[in-house]
Amino acid sequence: MYSWMSMSSSRKRLFIKTYGCQMNVYDSERMKDVLHPLGYEPSDAPDGADLVILNTCHIREKAAEKVYSELGRLRPLKEAKADDGGMTIAVAGCVAQAEGAEIMKRAPVVDLVVGPQTYHKLPELIAKAHRERGEALDTEFEVEDKFDRLGNDRQVEGFTAFVTVQEGCDKFCTFCVVPYTRGAEWSRPVDQIVAEVRALAAKGIREVTLLGQNVNAFHGEPPAGREADGPWGLGQLVRHLALIGGIERIRFTTSHPRDMDDDLINAFADTPKLMPYFHLPVQAGSDKILKAMNRQHTAEEYIAIIEKLRAARPDIAISGDMIVGFPGETDRDFEATLDLVREVNYASCFSFKYSKRPGTPGAAMFNQIDETVKSERLQVLQDLLNAQQISFNEAQIGRTLPVLLEKAGRMPGQLHGRSPYLQAVHVEAPEALIGTIIDVKITGASRNALSGERVRTQQDAA
Ligand code: SAH
Ligand code: SF4
Ligand code: F3S
Repeated sequence: MYSWMSMSSSRKRLFIKTYGCQMNVYDSERMKDVLHPLGYEPSDAPDGADLVILNTCHIREKAAEKVYSELGRLRPLKEAKADDGGMTIAVAGCVAQAEGAEIMKRAPVVDLVVGPQTYHKLPELIAKAHRERGEALDTEFEVEDKFDRLGNDRQVEGFTAFVTVQEGCDKFCTFCVVPYTRGAEWSRPVDQIVAEVRALAAKGIREVTLLGQNVNAFHGEPPAGREADGPWGLGQLVRHLALIGGIERIRFTTSHPRDMDDDLINAFADTPKLMPYFHLPVQAGSDKILKAMNRQHTAEEYIAIIEKLRAARPDIAISGDMIVGFPGETDRDFEATLDLVREVNYASCFSFKYSKRPGTPGAAMFNQIDETVKSERLQVLQDLLNAQQISFNEAQIGRTLPVLLEKAGRMPGQLHGRSPYLQAVHVEAPEALIGTIIDVKITGASRNALSGERVRTQQDAA
């Protein structure tokens, strides 16, 4: 038997491994916050931990399978700790939501399963797992309750933070599990988001990235006194958050082309704190495939949005997501994807081979594409995207960019920061400047990073 109850006042070690998207990164941080009052201190390895949480991702087959191999590795660690207070193993996140109790059947090493909308109940679930093995499972959808109970006291480190503002998705793209694992589209009330961002600013956070599976579908309850406005859109939210002292930079992700509106596009022109970087996945360039994917827009409509964004903010960096080898994709369809990529000219873009996901309409389509064809197409697409990324980075050489210095770099004396376009930047500067934005003249560029020299302001020179 575990002696958890009697140990609840002593320090306990918590190890969380996070897979998948930024939303999971945010959720993992919030799980640490929920467990902190119970004495759980984060640790960077699972060995000897009292509680191990795998915060999982179900988006592609490989992502989901990683969980089971990790559980296999945890087994001996759990056995080794059996006589020393025991190790509780929890599976959270989207695999937990999709597979539920099946996980405990397939991997008996698991003590509890908690979905993305119920992790605020971890303290109760842990107690339950210790009382009644096999009963600690909670995968209900109760988003509102979750945020009310999480509060704003976040254990943040550093100068940048994610803030979830919207969850879930009603789009049902035919390849995607997210509507099933994250539930229906839902937005947090504006005042609740403001309170969280204010608290972050007070803890030294300088940059916030607003998160949502469909973040630009945001339609949150307006702030007190502004009820007559009706729900606020993302553009309004961004402008409102830009008023918070201490917050210097705002970003958001991930958007859907169908939810773009002019107000959000205009925010890129009128809100200097909104960084000129926009992640707008398109997935494919052929209208036939876009239709089969149920993306609800054409390639032309996507390009028109990009053109509007560039008119509003000419230097805006565009990023995206692409899928190759969706069922029925011919060579000609794939050519249309390459054409779209050439036309958009991405600053960065993720690309994936289509992965069949159980329960999605795409998995039941009869015209699946051969793995070798998928691999060949992915290679061709990635060569093109890599070349675009390198040329976008090289185009910064000679420019002076404001860089938010985030931490010490790998080389002594070197700091690591981010450009407005989310590029990693290495620069020599005193550590005392970490957490500030300095001007950097860019002198070098590779695919993944820029390097440059600090430009001293008149103030520094005096
Ligand atoms: N909500 C976001 C992203 C969801 S998942 C959006 O709508 O764009 C992130 C990316 O994973 C997707 O943009 C897509 O490119 C990729 N993806 C999702 N399901 C996939 C699947 N079954 N196979 C391959 N890639 C997939
Ligand atoms: Fe998935 Fe499509 Fe929803 Fe994005 S919009 S989360 S790809 S279903
Ligand atoms: Fe993965 Fe769930 Fe995010 S499936 S991509 S962790 S929403």
